[in-house]
Amino acid sequence: MSVRRFERAPVRNTFGVDARAGLLIETDHADDLPGLFAGELAGTSPQASELLILGGGSNLLIVEAPAVALHLDSQRIEVLDAQNGIVRADAGVEWHRFVMWTLEHGFAGLENLALIPGTVGASPIQNIGAYGVEVGERIHAVDVFERISGAFQRFDAQACGFAYRDSMFKHAPDRWLVTAVEFKLAPSLETAALKLDYAGIRDELASMGIATPDARDVAEAVTGLRRRKLPDPAVVGNAGSFFKNPIVPVAQADALKAEHATLPIFPGNNAATRKLSAAWLIDACGWKGHRGGGSGDAGVSDKHALVLVNHGRATGAELLTLARDISASVHARFGVAIEPEPRIVGARW
Ligand code: FAD
Ligand code: EPU
Repeated sequence: MSVRRFERAPVRNTFGVDARAGLLIETDHADDLPGLFAGELAGTSPQASELLILGGGSNLLIVEAPAVALHLDSQRIEVLDAQNGIVRADAGVEWHRFVMWTLEHGFAGLENLALIPGTVGASPIQNIGAYGVEVGERIHAVDVFERISGAFQRFDAQACGFAYRDSMFKHAPDRWLVTAVEFKLAPSLETAALKLDYAGIRDELASMGIATPDARDVAEAVTGLRRRKLPDPAVVGNAGSFFKNPIVPVAQADALKAEHATLPIFPGNNAATRKLSAAWLIDACGWKGHRGGGSGDAGVSDKHALVLVNHGRATGAELLTLARDISASVHARFGVAIEPEPRIVGARW
């Protein structure tokens, strides 16, 4: 029997917010899901947040704990087609471990996504991205269990609706439980095309003394950059970037740039839009290093203005209030709406 049940169990979250679910259910096997949803989880509606599908808790702000949390802890990794670079990993596999496994086994393509916290199962939910690569570009198919029909389904990458920090899954939280993800990778480290253009990668490789890098070197460079730029959740609670970089019409981006020459601007979703740096907007409003809330422990990292931090005793509600204050100040000063990236559990944005 692979199903484990824990009453009044802590809901793990890298913010370090104290939250307990009435019941935490863990299973190592996706095959247990139909039975669970036909039985004790039958009444839980995907609309109400009665049940939270929990991965590693690295993209959650828990304001009110869910009644039930469900964690799929399956751990297989399999090469399905070595020649074509098709590799499949179960939902419970830790993301960074999987990235390093692919590189050790001669598959390239995920190196720019090294050291992102969390699980394989959560990777398609917000289409994780970093250093010029989004995981949707490397996904072949996503296997899910769908709660409404109670059936296993499979979506190819096209059907997942991947966009910047977005997918079809993100719009219906907890409806589809990702059971495994299949990736299409480059089958050889020697011939893989590398993505080195994101700011900092080439300089980092140069400082490592590497002139002709392979994918493993890129993973090491990205790891070094991330360790320096972002606060470590093991040291201070955080969920990475708290806000998405806002996408605005070209005319609005041009007008802001004319007034603020140092504002970083990146390509948007299409020719009519641009992406602005939320970190720069928040920094300009003076939030970096801020600390407050009732506990005095809800703050903004002094390393990176886009990262909200919990210095110890901050509650989810305090962090949410801080996030709303930051968003309101950015809107008042620049006329730009910034939206949270993590899932807010038990409250509305
Ligand atoms: P959780 O936080 O547990 O859940 C996130 C969402 O996915 C929830 O809605 C949850 O219900 C859902 N979910 C989880 N597992 C499943 C499943 N099996 N099936 C269906 N739904 C599921 N993100 C980036 O994109 N790029 C970055 O560079 C990045 N850097 C980060 C740095 C730090 C220090 C931290 C703390 C976070 C960072 N993140 C980044 C955010 C986070 O790592 C990702 O969103 C990650 O994919 C979350 O995985 P998780 O397993 O922790 O998911
Ligand atoms: N900046 C500031 N102040 C700061 C930090 C940054 O002004 O305190 C400016 C700098 O000018 C910098 C620019 O913001 O050039 C961009 O900063 P960075 O390269 O750190 O990227 P980001 O846009 O802040 C995004 C992702 C990260 C991802 C990195 C690297 C989003 C919301 N965030 O951050 O993802 O790791 O790029 O690709 O898209 C996450 O999603 O949790 C996350 C950490």
